[in-house]
Order: sequence, then C-alpha cells, then structure tokens
Amino acid sequence: MNEIGGKTRVLGVIGNPVEHTVSPVIHNNLAGILGDDIVYAAFHVMNENLEDAIKGAYALDLLGLNVTVPHKENVIKCLKDIDPLAERIGAVNTLVRCEGGFKGYNTDMPGLLRAMKHDGVCFDGEEVIILGAGGVARAVAMMLAENNAGHIYILNRTLPKALDIADEINAYKQGMITALSLDDHGSLDKSRKYIVIQATSVGMHPNTEAAVIEDPSFYELVKAGYDIVFNPLVTKFMKLCREAGALAFSGLRMLLYQGVIAYELWTGKEVSEENAEKIYEKMLEAMNG
Ligand code: ATR
Repeated sequence: MNEIGGKTRVLGVIGNPVEHTVSPVIHNNLAGILGDDIVYAAFHVMNENLEDAIKGAYALDLLGLNVTVPHKENVIKCLKDIDPLAERIGAVNTLVRCEGGFKGYNTDMPGLLRAMKHDGVCFDGEEVIILGAGGVARAVAMMLAENNAGHIYILNRTLPKALDIADEINAYKQGMITALSLDDHGSLDKSRKYIVIQATSVGMHPNTEAAVIEDPSFYELVKAGYDIVFNPLVTKFMKLCREAGALAFSGLRMLLYQGVIAYELWTGKEVSEENAEKIYEKMLEAMNG
C-alpha cells in the first residue's frame, strides 16, 4: 500500500450499512499494485444526507465514489451527468468526477458481463432465466436484452413485479422477455437448457441454507448458474446447480470486475487480467479472514 501524503487522491464508497464492504480491499490493493497515489475508504451515509455527501465529496476534491445500497437509485438526482447505460438501468454504482460535479455509471452489469466472459459463459442467442424482480434483476434483464440474449424468462415470487420488468424490456425489445411466477417454473420447456442468473438476496449469509427455488427438478434445466450473492462463496443455489451437473459461479467475480471497471474509469488505466486475478486472491483472503 502507498504512503498517504499531500498529493494522495481520495476515493470511497458510500452506503448504509457499509462497514462490511469488500471494495476497499479491491481498490487499495489495485492502487498498490499499479503504483497509484490513491486511498479508498468507506463512508457511512444516511438517506437524508445523500445530497450533502455528494456535494461535500465534490468540494473535497474526491476523485470518485462507489455507491451501494440503499443509494444506487436516489443518487441519480444528485449527478451532473449520467452514462446512457446507467440511465437505462436506473441505478448508479460509480461516480466519476467531472466539470461541476460527478458523472454516474453502472459498472455492476459490465462487471457481470466481464465475469461471464472470464468464465467462458456466452449467452448470445441463449435462453436465460432471471430469478427475482428487484433492482438487480431489472438491471440484469436490461443488460441481457442489450447484449443479444436469445430469450429471457424472469421468475419472481410476486408475479406483478416480474410483469412490470417484462413490460418495460418488451417495450424496448419486443418479445424479448416472459414473466412467470416462481411456482410456475414447471412450465418451462424441459427439452432446453438455460443459463440462470440468481438475482435475489436469498441464500446470503446468515441464511445460507435457503435457495429461491429448492425443487431439484428445476436445476436439471440449468446449463450454467450465476449467483449475485458472494457470501457464502458457495451458495445453496450453486450447490443445487452443481448437484444437477451444471456449472455454477459465485457473485465474487462480478464484484471484482465492477470494481476493476470503476477503477479504470477513475484512473484511465487498463487493469490486466493478471492484476485482476491478484485482487481476486486478496478478496478471497479477506472473506476467509
Ligand atoms: P434488489 O434491489 O437488491 O434486487 P429487492 O428490490 O429487495 O432487492 O428485491 C429482492 C428480490 O428478492 C425480489 O425479487 C424478491 O421477491 P418479491 O418481489 O416477491 O419480494 C426476492 N426475494 C426476497 N426474498 C425472497 C424469498 N424468501 N423467496 C423468494 N424471493 C425472494
């Protein structure tokens, strides 16, 4: 890690809660490896202070910020500019300093894309199932629709929420997405195999024995399963995928790459796969430690 001095630039993450964030591990190690005079800290920001926090960050000449729960949507109104992808997704996780304020980006979805590329999973023309219909699921649906998925099924416990997302995506790309209730997963065509993205918080520590669909017959349809959850490293969803003979991946690489892409935006540098891998090792150490 670099020595903090008068020229050190400050980055950070704002959220509530934010104490358990892994982002400082990503960025402080990247700064160390790349020799950048940068320090990254976590800032606990409450809803009512969000606007002041952004203004203060600008006034204090912060280079940029990450934004996490619960501010990813509300921060948009505090921005000077927004990247078109982040605007379509409706959620911002990265702020880059610009003239007079910050420009907002979403690196979560490009992070998921880069993780899938790393894992050799290609969804071009493939049938993809999204589990959940919250903010993350909506972003995943938008990302898949924009990147040549064949057809998307969005399955949620509360069907109207899945229908809302489907309506929105279909208005943008007609016939792209079908909404189903979670209980109706039996109606999916069993002669096909699907890439499944688990986009709910179900299974996250400490509820590690939970999966959004427990029925093993569902997992026979899975070709590759992605969990957005990264703690525990192997979720119940992943275990069920693997027990059915499918590939399964944790959300930790998506987390890695969303950070890598944010760092690239802040510094204008490209982070090599080799360096990204070093950071991944540090994240694993931090999670096990
Ligand atoms: P985020 O914005 O992070 O995606 P969210 O908006 O709270 O979070 O969405 C959480 C998702 O997890 C929703 O799809 C939710 O289903 P409902 O829309 O039916 O609430 C899903 N979810 C949470 N707990 C669940 C559970 N025990 N079983 C099934 N789905 C669950």
